[in-house]
Amino acid sequence: MHSTSESPVIDSSAGLRRPRPMVFLHWATALLIALVIGIAFVRDGVEEKALRATLMNIHRSIGLTIALLAMARIVVRLAHRPLPPTGDMSPLARLAAELAHLALYVLLMALPLIGWALSCAHGKPVSLFGLVTLPVIVEEDEDLADDLAEYHENAAWLLIGLVGVHAAAALYHHFVRRDNVLRAMLPARQS
Ligand code: HEM
Ligand code: HEM
Repeated sequence: MHSTSESPVIDSSAGLRRPRPMVFLHWATALLIALVIGIAFVRDGVEEKALRATLMNIHRSIGLTIALLAMARIVVRLAHRPLPPTGDMSPLARLAAELAHLALYVLLMALPLIGWALSCAHGKPVSLFGLVTLPVIVEEDEDLADDLAEYHENAAWLLIGLVGVHAAAALYHHFVRRDNVLRAMLPARQS
């Protein structure tokens, strides 16, 4: 039934690419997440107050951008529904992938929202690169800020763990299953 390793596999999904906006938003988000987390950790090791504040403002703005990109991604996804499969996956594997994607989306929105609330609870203004100032959504309350900071940090670790599993699954598809799942998500090369 299945072809052996000697005979070429006829895969109707070979060459299939995800829509360009989806690919762009995926990798832009991945880059911004690396930046937002990197900046948070660098700031942790910085003593100087002004530099800490600047790094936090950049952290906030990039974090909010990630949430905006997540919203754009949802629109793009809905516009391209249903997405054709790019690999031969069992229904269980497909369900696991879909659930992981859903959890990633939830975290990409929840993390910035908690960060926004946490900044308000600290009494700090939140703006998007100094261009737009966001409304205050939570009154100043240091105890609440501490709790929210803990949720924010835990959610960030959850995101890091989930991204790790997600990336490992993508690499497994590419190097072990040798299917088109990762290739479909890569930017198309100019010929
Ligand atoms: C996907 C987006 C985001 C990720 C992955 C993320 C991740 C993190 C991480 C890893 C930390 C370090 C935790 C620690 O050192 O204890 C942190 C701290 C913080 N983040 Fe975010 N963040 C995001 C978005 C935001 C946004 C949008 C805001 C505000 C508008 C924000 C506000 C803060 C604040 C105020 C802290 C310091 C918490 C404290 O210790 O008081 N974050 N974030
Ligand atoms: C911060 C990092 C990442 C996030 C938040 C993330 C999130 C997502 C989400 C939500 C999807 C579902 C498709 C969509 O709506 O765009 C997806 C698809 C995908 N991601 Fe990631 N991703 C990240 C990093 C990576 C990395 C590092 C790799 C590769 C090593 C990767 C490979 C893929 C592939 C191949 C798909 C397509 C899966 C399919 O067609 O079912 N992602 N990613």
